[in-house]
Amino acid sequence: MDKIRVVGGKALHGRVEVSGAKNAALPAMAATLLTAETIRLENIPYVKDILTTRTLLESMGVAASVSEDGAGEFKADAPTSLEAPYELVKTMRASVLVLGPLLARFKKARVSLPGGCAIGARPINLHLQGLEKMGAKCEVTHGYVDATAEALRGAYIQMDTVTVTGTENLMMAAVLAEGVTVLDNAACEPEVENLADMLRAMGAEIEGDGTRTIRIRGVKRLKGCRHKVIPDRIEAGTFAIAAAITQGDVEIANCNPKHLTSVLTQLNLVGAEISLGENGFRVRGHAAVSSKNVTTFPYPAFPTDMQAQYMALMTQGDGTAIITETIFENRFMHAQELRRMGADIVVEGRQAVVRGGKPLTGAKVQASDLRASASLVLAGLAAQGETVIDRVYHLDRGYCRIEAKMAGLGAEIERIH
Ligand code: EPU
Repeated sequence: MDKIRVVGGKALHGRVEVSGAKNAALPAMAATLLTAETIRLENIPYVKDILTTRTLLESMGVAASVSEDGAGEFKADAPTSLEAPYELVKTMRASVLVLGPLLARFKKARVSLPGGCAIGARPINLHLQGLEKMGAKCEVTHGYVDATAEALRGAYIQMDTVTVTGTENLMMAAVLAEGVTVLDNAACEPEVENLADMLRAMGAEIEGDGTRTIRIRGVKRLKGCRHKVIPDRIEAGTFAIAAAITQGDVEIANCNPKHLTSVLTQLNLVGAEISLGENGFRVRGHAAVSSKNVTTFPYPAFPTDMQAQYMALMTQGDGTAIITETIFENRFMHAQELRRMGADIVVEGRQAVVRGGKPLTGAKVQASDLRASASLVLAGLAAQGETVIDRVYHLDRGYCRIEAKMAGLGAEIERIH
């Protein structure tokens, strides 16, 4: 199993290019099931979750290719299976994104029910309730959701909780349903808007994406298209914290700073200098880091996917920061590993109290999920001596060549096979 070795203490300098967003590419790949025509995607990040989705599509008989330069071609003209098996879903919950498109086009889908994961229970009840409102029957037996529909009909669907993949699944189901669907309390993450752009390019009629109410008028059929995946705002934010935590000076290129407003505002508040450009931004870190509280909320607020990385930064703060996680009930697994590196963090339910000012020292640590892994890399960059991060497969699910990109900025970091 691969590990990452980091020797801390080097300020990062230079320019880094952000890859495509995993969480935008995954629904885009699922959406290729909505048409028999060819779909060409650009800017797909070459990470493990993408390769898992390619395997999933191939297992359904879809012609799917993804190359390291980010180009992908997909043709679902004659699927041979309408099932997402347990073996794949258990490694990547986002497999559940095929449910909406399969049901919309073939009126039938069989998808393994994802279990809980390292960050929380993560049920899919809202996906299923929405589909049922549209006329589907969803039965859960033997660990699988068997969904069928004679026809999907437009419906008014109000979601109790803002769910990103839930919104995406229902949007993909609604584009081929009869009549109008309204998704209320919808997620307005940029990844949802990017999916809506793709669906419109395929001929779908969607309005209101990027707001809490999305209105979709179903069409009879969708066509092929060419679509570009947006840059990964979480990868960009991770590099921003890398610059801040090492007191470096990094230009983060090829991303949309507007997608990072809450993160950059927070970094500015804690003392990093941010200058915005058209297609990127620059972060200059300083020795003085102010400890500031943060609470995660759905977009456009501070994202849960940046919480672990921010916690690493707060270990270097000048006081106490309270980090409140409102999205996932168990997303503080990195705290105990950061403690092994000398951090002073107390977790109480949904809150972590981080007392800064303690120098971090390198240690052997274990990654528990994707963003927790990133937080350990960041802590390693700031720590004295060597940090070895185990279970790097979590990192590989969503970060494209992170060690090479960090090394390009002057970090002493390598992958150990
Ligand atoms: N929820 C329900 N019922 C549902 C769906 C969600 O109760 O049917 C709850 C969840 O348990 C959670 C909250 O709603 O408490 C929000 O979850 P959401 O459904 O938005 O999460 P997701 O769609 O499963 C996506 C990202 C995550 C990101 C979250 C929140 C993808 C593929 N995944 O997950 O990304 O943390 O939204 O922004 O888009 C990551 O990239 O590391 C990652 C975990």
